[in-house]
Amino acid sequence: MSRSPAQAPVTARAPAKVNLLLEVGPRRDDGYHDLLTVFQALDLSEDVTASPARGFSVEVSGEDGVDVSGVPLDERNLALRAALLLAERAGVRAGAHLSVRKGVPVAGGMAGGSADAAAALVACDALWGTRLGLPALTELAAELGADVPFCLHGRTAVGTGRGDRLVPVLTTAAFHWVLVLHGAGLSTPAVFAECDRLRAAGGAGPAAAPEAGERLRAVEAALRAGDPRALGAALGNDLQEAACSLAPELTGALRSGADAGALAGLVSGSGPTVALLAASAPDARRLAGRLRAEHGPRVRTAHGPVPGARVLEAVRAR
Ligand code: C5P
Repeated sequence: MSRSPAQAPVTARAPAKVNLLLEVGPRRDDGYHDLLTVFQALDLSEDVTASPARGFSVEVSGEDGVDVSGVPLDERNLALRAALLLAERAGVRAGAHLSVRKGVPVAGGMAGGSADAAAALVACDALWGTRLGLPALTELAAELGADVPFCLHGRTAVGTGRGDRLVPVLTTAAFHWVLVLHGAGLSTPAVFAECDRLRAAGGAGPAAAPEAGERLRAVEAALRAGDPRALGAALGNDLQEAACSLAPELTGALRSGADAGALAGLVSGSGPTVALLAASAPDARRLAGRLRAEHGPRVRTAHGPVPGARVLEAVRAR
């Protein structure tokens, strides 16, 4: 006899992101900054398994050496918050036990926590049979954090507002990355605050609201053409100076990426992960090999774009 979705555990996977472009406007009254960003989803991912339970609980483990010691297991945990929010809004009376397997570095600027929330929404939606659909799940995602809608949608997208208003971008090729992870994470609010501080100290006056201009057009053209060299020339991150100010060793990682032959490099989001672009998959493997001599196991290869949060069929069929 087949088991109903409400009885069988459901596993969902959600991707990490890198920001190909991140333009930061002034700080708003709600503490957020208006952004103009281009996200790309990478094949580093978070798996969340939701199992039937009376109450709500979460456990977390790390894959590939991801250190999960800093991940909270109480109501600050984003996967747990996602499950609680969905249950409340959809009027679900059941609970769920969530088992999170993290393949994305914690506090690395790659939206690992946001991917947990996106995967938990999708897994619990399937577990409870709430079938909210992508538009309603996207609204819940935006309540959970600025990057959660993108982790739900995946692929490549322009983000505006807090980064949560998304428009898909056409891409015609896979792009190959080498990631240099960092031992200690950076706090996203601290990096945004440092960006504000550096701007004020530089006397530049309040930053203008980011506008869809030349930089965005250059990124979109490179993506449409599937041209990694053109993409490398167009990459940009307004938070990079702030991340390097708080973690000066990132400047060295960027330099060693350039010396080792990367097309271009940038800090991913608020950092501290450094993302280096390669011309092809073999080039990415060669680049990673050279960088491992200096940075050891903290060097990973990745590619994008990949899909957003989804139930894993093989697990669902069990
Ligand atoms: O939405 P999320 O919880 O991921 O954001 C974490 C923090 O990052 C925010 O509290 C804010 O300090 C900063 N942030 C921002 N502007 C954005 C996104 C995040 O200032 N657009």
